[in-house]
Amino acid sequence: MTSFPHDDALQLASPAALRALIESRRAVRRFTSEPVPDAVIRDCLDLATLAPNSCNLQPWSFQVIRDPELLARLHPVCMSQNAAKAPLIIAVLARPDTWRQACRDIVTHWPEPEVPGRIRHFYAKTAPFQYNQGPLGLLGFLKRQLLRVVALRKPLMRTPNSKADMRIWAVKSTALAAQNLMLGFQSHGFATCPMEGFDEVRLRRVLDLPRAAIPIMLLAVGRQGEKGVYNPRLRFPLEQQVTWL
Ligand SMILES: Cc1cc2nc3c(=O)[nH]c(=O)nc-3n(C[C@H](O)[C@H](O)[C@H](O)COP(=O)(O)O)c2cc1C
Repeated sequence: MTSFPHDDALQLASPAALRALIESRRAVRRFTSEPVPDAVIRDCLDLATLAPNSCNLQPWSFQVIRDPELLARLHPVCMSQNAAKAPLIIAVLARPDTWRQACRDIVTHWPEPEVPGRIRHFYAKTAPFQYNQGPLGLLGFLKRQLLRVVALRKPLMRTPNSKADMRIWAVKSTALAAQNLMLGFQSHGFATCPMEGFDEVRLRRVLDLPRAAIPIMLLAVGRQGEKGVYNPRLRFPLEQQVTWL
């Protein structure tokens, strides 16, 4: 992985360059059959994992589907939509279930010879307190009651304190990774279409997904085909969506 000194990074990501990249990405529904090189896929996955994420626990995983037979099985699972005829589909999975292992991995992979004490403490004590909801979410229930009382006296983070909160927790970070992934492919000249139009039950069966994994989207990737973009860009006026305080 390349790392740039701060100033160089700022220069590379000039506002104009970043705007051009973001503006050029569209949801593309028709692709050519040209395969996406593995090196490109790897680079984009690497960029995906650079996304900001909660407590650096990186609650995501990805399934890269290139096998034509598997892609053909996925097409009906994606309601036979055009975008799902892409030569590459990446299943982007939120993982509310991997935080425990991630707490151990942070310490193992710490990029300095000594793991600072505050880091050890955070991943051994604080993070497990925050993310462990216990069997049937019972611990989460108890934490919610405790928080109600303690928070009368001082501001406290109120979530995640249930299994449902944990799903939202993991989805937030994973969605950011998905956006990095799309912009990564865009920067390599490949188009993408995020898809939530799929039958989750069938998808789980076809990809043999881990039980707790949440497929937040399937990302179709390939070279843009003819008439690949269906509609002109449309966004609501900022005034409608932004409050300045
Ligand atoms: C979570 C999510 C799910 C989506 N699912 C589908 C889908 O199943 N099929 C599809 O053709 N487009 C899908 N899209 C693409 C959106 O329709 C598209 O991003 C939106 O219309 C804006 O167009 P633009 O991306 O070209 O700016 C999805 C986008 C997101 C973010």
